[in-house]
Amino acid sequence: MNRGFVSFVGAGPGDPELITLKGLRRLREAEVVLHDRLIPLPLLDEVSQGATIIDVGKAPGRPCVGQGHINWLLVDWARRRKRIVRLKGGDPAVFGRLGEEIEAVRSAGIAFEVVPGVTAATAAAARLGISLTERGSASMIVFATGTDRTGHLPATLNWDMLARAEGTLVFYMPVGGLDSITASLTSLGRDPREPAILVEHAGVAGERVIAGRLGEIADEARAAGVGPPAVLITGPTVALASVPLSVRRVLAGMGT
Ligand SMILES: C[S@@+](CC[C@H](N)C(=O)[O-])C[C@H]1O[C@@H](n2cnc3c(N)ncnc32)[C@H](O)[C@@H]1O
Repeated sequence: MNRGFVSFVGAGPGDPELITLKGLRRLREAEVVLHDRLIPLPLLDEVSQGATIIDVGKAPGRPCVGQGHINWLLVDWARRRKRIVRLKGGDPAVFGRLGEEIEAVRSAGIAFEVVPGVTAATAAAARLGISLTERGSASMIVFATGTDRTGHLPATLNWDMLARAEGTLVFYMPVGGLDSITASLTSLGRDPREPAILVEHAGVAGERVIAGRLGEIADEARAAGVGPPAVLITGPTVALASVPLSVRRVLAGMGT
């Protein structure tokens, strides 16, 4: 008998205060929590004593719980407990393999809901006072991934469209492919002088911001030793004046 209910909850990308009230309530009421690696860990203090907490996080270079096993765990726990929370970093629906987990739960006849969260793109932009859209100059936002399931740049990305998009591009998981991402964009016509920013560990200890031009940001990131998690944001609004002083100095040096 399937008596459990699975809540896929967005934990936000760093700052534990960014979870929604609904997400926090689900977390406090949960009997079982299966969580990603990139969640704000203080949120686990909100889980009630006696609840089962399982780390199913995938981390580069360490043995990890495979996606198939995560799907199985979700179904298995939902058959044994009532309130299951699948706590995912950022928003569950953004590069979070939510579709695969929903499919597993749905095909087992288990009821579920999705509680959205703040995604890394908007959290990073908020940290810097950047608007991702702007009337007249940025009428669209594209969220793209810089890494596919094999760890390489996705072959399916439409670079021509991305290069010509009049708006803001945000790349998740961009670090390993930064050279290729920036070269693909600029070789197809995106202005190499466009302001670009990499935000590493947005909203958590160790947060760093690398600001530069699109054509140079890969070299700057390499020099600074940027690693995951980070997002790359490029577009006309990145140059707006509300970027913090340290970052603004770099941008001012670019004449933007
Ligand atoms: C598997 S994706 C999950 C994205 C998540 N579902 C979201 O909505 O933010 C992981 C990627 O999200 C981005 N990310 C997550 N947390 C971040 C943070 N605190 N700072 C910068 N980027 C972050 C990085 O690009 C990281 O490699």
